[in-house]
Amino acid sequence: MKLTSKEQKMLSGEMGLARQKAMELLVKYGEALGADSFVDTRNVHSLTPFYFYPDVLNSYLDIKDMDDFISKSVLDSDEKVIIDELEAFTSSHIYSVDLDHLDFLEASKGRDPANFREMVVSMRDYCKKIGMTMMSTCTPYTSGNVPRFGEHCAWTESSAISYLNSVIGGRSNIEGDHSSFASAVTGKTPYWGFHIPENRYGNVIVQVEYQPKSLQDWDLLGYSTGFEVGLDIPIYSNIEQQGSMCNFMALSSAGAASGAIVMYHVLGQTPEAKTLDEALGGRNEKYVITFGNDERKKAYEKLNCAHDEHVEYVVLGCPHYPPERLRKVASLLEGKRINPGVSLLIFTCFQHKALAERNGYLEIIERAGGKVVIDSCPLNTKIAPSRIVATDAAKIAHTSGGMKGWTDVWYGTLEECINAAVTGKWEGELN
Ligand code: F3S
Repeated sequence: MKLTSKEQKMLSGEMGLARQKAMELLVKYGEALGADSFVDTRNVHSLTPFYFYPDVLNSYLDIKDMDDFISKSVLDSDEKVIIDELEAFTSSHIYSVDLDHLDFLEASKGRDPANFREMVVSMRDYCKKIGMTMMSTCTPYTSGNVPRFGEHCAWTESSAISYLNSVIGGRSNIEGDHSSFASAVTGKTPYWGFHIPENRYGNVIVQVEYQPKSLQDWDLLGYSTGFEVGLDIPIYSNIEQQGSMCNFMALSSAGAASGAIVMYHVLGQTPEAKTLDEALGGRNEKYVITFGNDERKKAYEKLNCAHDEHVEYVVLGCPHYPPERLRKVASLLEGKRINPGVSLLIFTCFQHKALAERNGYLEIIERAGGKVVIDSCPLNTKIAPSRIVATDAAKIAHTSGGMKGWTDVWYGTLEECINAAVTGKWEGELN
């Protein structure tokens, strides 16, 4: 790779061991990807080192020192690397632990809670020391990290990256734990993929014949398209409804879950698709697909794999619920009680939980028996594969089979999920 003099200084160690190790990692990574150079980034969203998953924890149980932990597990260094301050503004992804709801979370399995708390606190202190902003969410764009149009970022989390590229017009590839952390330390990311303007043009037209009217419709549109387009970039055409933030969150997360949609365009709505010609970059499309009634129905049927109507868990908040959805949950639960045989878990970030508290939503949800869980995700719960789960997120319904072994999942609207939480019975259907 061609390095600037500053990048060379980092690599030679002139700017300290932390930048040297991070740069070594990024150069190997960039070369493997075929990148010729780096681009500056001042916006990173990083998972590492706060992802408490049992396997990760078990490998590092005897590491008491956070600098040691980061050196070995993230920067691949046997030498201890002390990071004074991150170069790029960095927000943290979820780290899987809500200290107030440890009982539900996989990370706490077989662990002494006191020891666990100590470990979480030391991670948080480390974050403070290096200047990583602890947003602890998969939707940083809803809670304070909103890049500007055209900004080069190094983000983790497929749904957030799809939203960033498509809706905000920021630029990021799907980064991993190690590369994003190295970008945070150096302020650099390899210049390839979605950083390059020509790679952002759409190449598949999706003729939307079934007009999305509800949030579920946007979810199903993304889910169906993900299967069809592989690594291509869809241009959704003919959508009449102006998408809201929640609509685009669903479109982004579902398309990234069933396929590999890192970027899409919605004609006349997303910022790089004012016209079809702009979205295609003046080229011809590779092929055209259709999303109609049949495709919508097929996608819905694929997501509903449960047989037993007796629901035991309702999981909401994938991606993390913004205030608008928490408000909706509260309005649906007002004056009701969750069925004693059901656990209702709603995932969000602590910023939105604080808003929910201030606005009275939290009180209504908790009075009804629901739990608002922060810093974590439905995929990090201890819910056993044999349980019957209902969700309103195509992403969870799709990924939970492989990642959690859940075989009985109902997928429906938020209203149907809340109804199941109250009655204990699934009564959803596609309208
Ligand atoms: Fe977020 Fe977990 Fe869904 S990280 S996007 S809630 S799978």
